[in-house]
Amino acid sequence: MSWIVEEKCFDRDKIIDNGNKYLTGNGYMGFRGTMEEFTKSEFTCCNLAGVYDRCDGKWRETVNVPNGMFTVLFCEGKELSLLTTESAEHIQKLDIKHGLHTRKTLWHTSCGEINITAERFVSLDNVHLMCMKYSVHFEKACNAVIKTGIDKNVWDINGPHFESCETGTACKLIYAHAVTDELKISTAVFEKLLFDFEANETITSGDDGIYRNIEINALPNIEYTIYKFVSVYTSNDGLGDVIAAASNDVSQAADVGYDKCYDSHAKRWEERWKISDVTLEGDDDAQIALRYSIYHLQIIAPRHTDRTSIAARGLSGQTYKGAIFWDTEMFLLPFYLYTDPETARNLIKYRVKTLEGARRKASGYGFRGAFYAWESQETGDDACSDYNVTDVFTGRPMRTYFKDKQIHISADVAYAVWETYEFLADDSILIDGGAEVILECARFFYSYVYYKEDKHRYEILDVIGTDEYHERVNNNAFTNRMVYHTFDTALKCAKLLECYYKDEFVKLMDKINFRDDLDNISRVKEKLYVPQPDEATGIIEQFDGYFQREDCTLDQVRGRILDSKEYWGGASGIAADTMIIKQADVMLMLYLFGNDYSEVIKQKNWLYYEPRTEHGSSLSPCIYALVACEIGSQQWGYDYFLKTASIDLTGKSKQFAGSIYIGGTHPAASGGAWMVAVFGFAGLHIENGELALSPRLPEKWSKLSFGLIYKGEKYMVEITKSEGRIWKI
Ligand code: BGC
Repeated sequence: MSWIVEEKCFDRDKIIDNGNKYLTGNGYMGFRGTMEEFTKSEFTCCNLAGVYDRCDGKWRETVNVPNGMFTVLFCEGKELSLLTTESAEHIQKLDIKHGLHTRKTLWHTSCGEINITAERFVSLDNVHLMCMKYSVHFEKACNAVIKTGIDKNVWDINGPHFESCETGTACKLIYAHAVTDELKISTAVFEKLLFDFEANETITSGDDGIYRNIEINALPNIEYTIYKFVSVYTSNDGLGDVIAAASNDVSQAADVGYDKCYDSHAKRWEERWKISDVTLEGDDDAQIALRYSIYHLQIIAPRHTDRTSIAARGLSGQTYKGAIFWDTEMFLLPFYLYTDPETARNLIKYRVKTLEGARRKASGYGFRGAFYAWESQETGDDACSDYNVTDVFTGRPMRTYFKDKQIHISADVAYAVWETYEFLADDSILIDGGAEVILECARFFYSYVYYKEDKHRYEILDVIGTDEYHERVNNNAFTNRMVYHTFDTALKCAKLLECYYKDEFVKLMDKINFRDDLDNISRVKEKLYVPQPDEATGIIEQFDGYFQREDCTLDQVRGRILDSKEYWGGASGIAADTMIIKQADVMLMLYLFGNDYSEVIKQKNWLYYEPRTEHGSSLSPCIYALVACEIGSQQWGYDYFLKTASIDLTGKSKQFAGSIYIGGTHPAASGGAWMVAVFGFAGLHIENGELALSPRLPEKWSKLSFGLIYKGEKYMVEITKSEGRIWKI
């Protein structure tokens, strides 16, 4: 039961939410949970990871390819679609254990009862492949046509992204071959269809796509089943001729057959779950929500490449430009580090590969070193626009400073590289580019800080912390602490290389001309100001002057809303001059650097900031949950845990920032849910190089178990009310 997510009726208002909720994918592509007969109006899409395009000067975003799964039924000339004909019964189901999407619909028609059952999967075994089994059952004899093919009219936010899209047939295959506008990336979608009943097949093509019309003189009580195989390749795959690659691939899959393709896919899922499943006893709601979160982390993992990373909305579409944010390093990486180290390595390599882009960004602002993109795409250049939000009142783009001022991104990247190196105990992470990333990030901060003569300290001015509602503030505690960490890490990293990898050290120092910077960084680190708890209250001020902002309640601020889509930040947003913050900021610092602060300080700050936090970002609740666990208040943490874990199940999330659509899935919340279960409730941590536990289960839970990989060995962990155990498997 706790592997199935389902919907037992059709609700037109939920089409977009369900597209996210029932997403299937494999890291290479994601297919939204829409019905087979849906088109771009219902946000149907097959979204590709790491393939970007810019058209007509609009925002660059990931590309959605023509929909090879499109299928619709006609009976006696009349289209049967959930959109046009009311159904008598309808079930949409996702088996998260095997990544299998199913729909069953029953219609009462003038031809009697007609049932459609369609199951499909995006293969985990072959990242280019999607398969579908589509069956129709008629109560009475009728003339039916199954129209199935490739729909060229893709859903885009800032498209159209193809300068050309040709369709055609080749042997028994149909295809769409499209070329992107900006970079002329060649994209092939090939489809092969199998069925073994008598039918008359014709192929039609036009502006909307290429379709097979399978005409059947259907007899009562016989199931007519078609098997569809769809293969997607792009020239980014580096395999040469995309047409040959896709046509061979889809032909081979069809030769293997649907059942065997499914078996190989399902086997991969079972292997994944063996180590990544987290089971808990006593709480079915939490169990399904947590597993569902892990399901999402599995379907977006870029296992096949290190040329891209995970977008903030996963593979659910083009929201947020399909770009990679700090979400990956700070909220997703831990899951992969502990359960899928190869994917973790790929995520780090992506940042190594995009270092040049980060250098370009830094120098563009007149700084040195590496300033990573706030919204990163394939080159590491920033996709974030200067005007990232549209004002709902004037319709004008608003100048936002996410790209210019959220400098913590470089510290997040450096943090992640070091975490990965430490956790995997693998020096190659540093040698193969990680060290260069860390040093260049440190150099960027060295060039960013200011010396405040009267206070004899370095300060960091004009930044945005994680709380985006307060722009251009000075000495954001989180940012300053992260920069300190980057300096510290850079020095440690250089020392390590110098001691154990002399040649590599010399080479790197020469390559990036860093010797003087090591001294500079060491000097600045000693005098860098990191805001500390106030002596009287124990509260850490989020940034200079935060305490002087209007201290009002969240409800008061909500009471000032004039338009439900209005943006709370920016120059005149309703939160900007108040103490209401968008997301965990000081709290994140307390979590990441937990050893620096006492339980009392953590508790005081939790109690202070929690009522002032809107959780306007899905990245926020998990951090409050994690710190709640550390202060022995796991019940407080439990509510935030459920909120995080079920965000894409309930669909309760912000859909707009100003008038910009920001809906989609929330990978960072999924990663956060896993972190709360494992690091929060189980209290898993590393102590003197060994795995250790500090269990604090929520009341309802009687047992929590999970697997992990540490230094190449697999382990199981089990926590009960009375004990915590770790053993090798
Ligand atoms: C959050 C950022 C986050 C981004 C993408 C924003 O709403 O404030 O911290 O990186 O969404 O998830």
